[in-house]
Amino acid sequence: MAVPWLALQAVAISAVVACAFEALVWLLFYRNTGYGRDLEQLDRLGKRLDAAVAELAADPNNNSKKKTQQRLERELRAFSLTLQGNKFKIGLLTAASMIGGMWLINKRFRGTPVAKMPFAPPGFFTGLTHMGLPGDDMTDVSAAFFYATTGPWFRANLSKLTGTGPSRTATKYLNTALAVDKKSA
Ligand SMILES: *[C@@H]1O[C@H](CO)[C@@H](O)[C@H](O)[C@H]1NC(C)=O
Ligand SMILES: *[C@@H]1O[C@H](CO)[C@@H](O)[C@H](O)[C@H]1NC(C)=O
Repeated sequence: MAVPWLALQAVAISAVVACAFEALVWLLFYRNTGYGRDLEQLDRLGKRLDAAVAELAADPNNNSKKKTQQRLERELRAFSLTLQGNKFKIGLLTAASMIGGMWLINKRFRGTPVAKMPFAPPGFFTGLTHMGLPGDDMTDVSAAFFYATTGPWFRANLSKLTGTGPSRTATKYLNTALAVDKKSA
């Protein structure tokens, strides 16, 4: 089988864009705003709240445990509010890097297919594999497809590797800050 050089190029562009994104996040946020430390603090608070929730579940009528849980929820809510600004900015940067990478891909490949499928994939899938390609040969695969599918994978693994991603507990409370808000209100 011939080596699909063009597809590999698209994947390489995806990797380079992900590296540049990761470096920017590290420079702009983790190093300069203390966002990394804040995520660690969120992780600690989240773990304490999780433990308090479990303790209360085991002893639901204990008022002192109920109070502990509510106090931790309030603390966590207040703290996670301080993180929302950076979270939002990193989200914007993520979107910008995806759009920038797509722009590079379109500029480099200009609607040239980079790979062939042995058969046409199901209809809903061709929206992705045929993305940005002219013609209706659905076995053609675009560079945009390789970019869009490998980008998130590179980003996830790089942030795991460099430690710039929030822990699982921190992610949970970063995303459910508003749910915590309603429950304890
Ligand atoms: C409630 O839990 C606390 C520990 O959080 C414990 O010291 C206390 O004895 C418990 N109260 C009752 C009534 O079980
Ligand atoms: C890369 O990320 C994916 C999903 O995000 C994960 O399943 C995989 O184990 C990761 N690989 C490495 C080497 O970290």
